[in-house]
Amino acid sequence: MENTSDALCGRWKLFGLTAGLSAILLVFSLAFGLQAADEDAKSAVPAGLGKVSHPKDNLPTAEKISLGKQLYWDKRLSKDNTIACVSCHDPKKGWSNGEQFATGVDGQKGGRNSPTVLNTAYGQFQFWDGREPSLEAQAKGPIQNPIEMAITEKAVVEKLNKIEGYKQQFQKVFKTDVTFDNMAKAIAAYERTVLAGNSPFDRYKAGDKKALSEAAERGRYVFFNKALCSACHAGPNFTDNGFHNVGIGMDKKEYDVGRFAVQKLGGNRGAFKTPTLRDIGRSAPYMHDGSLKTLEEVVEHYVGGGIDNPFLSEDIFPLKLTAEEKKDLVTFLKEGLKSGDYPMHEAPKLPE
Ligand code: HEC
Ligand code: HEC
Repeated sequence: MENTSDALCGRWKLFGLTAGLSAILLVFSLAFGLQAADEDAKSAVPAGLGKVSHPKDNLPTAEKISLGKQLYWDKRLSKDNTIACVSCHDPKKGWSNGEQFATGVDGQKGGRNSPTVLNTAYGQFQFWDGREPSLEAQAKGPIQNPIEMAITEKAVVEKLNKIEGYKQQFQKVFKTDVTFDNMAKAIAAYERTVLAGNSPFDRYKAGDKKALSEAAERGRYVFFNKALCSACHAGPNFTDNGFHNVGIGMDKKEYDVGRFAVQKLGGNRGAFKTPTLRDIGRSAPYMHDGSLKTLEEVVEHYVGGGIDNPFLSEDIFPLKLTAEEKKDLVTFLKEGLKSGDYPMHEAPKLPE
């Protein structure tokens, strides 16, 4: 009898130990599983790009990114349910909108071209004049802008809180109902997944000398040497994150002062942020005022040395390029910087 009870007791102990161990293992594997998913969200960076850094208070998770994607595509974030972020930053149009200017609610037009959202994850400044530092801060702008989405913070938060599917997701991701801050965080986390890289140029740089066509390779040489476009379009994202006056729109009496509105230094007059050139073939028209329709026109602009003005960058001057060099340069921009795995996102299912 005693033996049995001892044996039983031993078995129970063993069972307890096994159950305990499995529970610990389960918890561990769940934790690591989730962490692995988050790691994937963090480290899925196309070849040629640097690591994406995330604000400490807005680390990405798969669920947060999915929520941000829904918000990005949802027209209910505008006053009259007609405009979403994607209306002006559309994957099919190079994450821009294919028009000279942005068109917001009631067909209202702004005075600036929609920049691409591609690789804004790497931007130290957002907007053409760099007036916002982070994607989180940026996302709040267009929603409230009277000629873009034209809705108040209060109204959009109220509206989204009436949508059960959003309420639940915000609870899951942020442990709150819908708030304006958390909405911006989710959108920013999604934007940080919109990356362009792994282009023929990246493969060429990594040692595959056949990755660029002969014309694109000649154009690469012009870009980095004879035309020195790389004085400003530098680094993995083809931008120095700086502001320059390259002589665009400067023939207007009331020209757009650009960076000067943010930082009142003389040299900032008519200076705009150097944009990325990745997948540039997809996002015509070009420049802050959308005034150049094609990459051929852009190259002619630089060859001519830009519109002369007292604030013109020292790095902008007439270039002596042959007709073939100009063609090759365009080929490099179009083919050489085209992503191998362009993020052609599809519209997500939106919550009811
Ligand atoms: C009506 C068109 C329109 C809508 C809607 C719109 N944007 Fe924009 N977006 C623009 C324009 C125009 C700019 C440039 C404005 C400027 O520089 O002053 C811009 C700038 C940006 C930038 C800065 C990019 C850079 O390189 O500086 C980001 C990021 C961005 N928008 C994301 C969003 C998000 C997220 C939403 C939705 C919450 C959104 N946009 C809605 C037109 C729009
Ligand atoms: C002095 C710095 C500088 C140099 C040099 C320079 N760029 Fe730019 N680039 C800029 C800035 C700043 C802008 C935005 C200007 C604006 O909108 O007013 C720009 C805009 C562009 C755009 C339009 C991008 C868009 O999304 O609208 C293209 C394309 C471009 N540059 C290609 C080139 C090429 C090709 C060269 C060499 C021939 C070159 N750049 C030389 C700073 C420079």
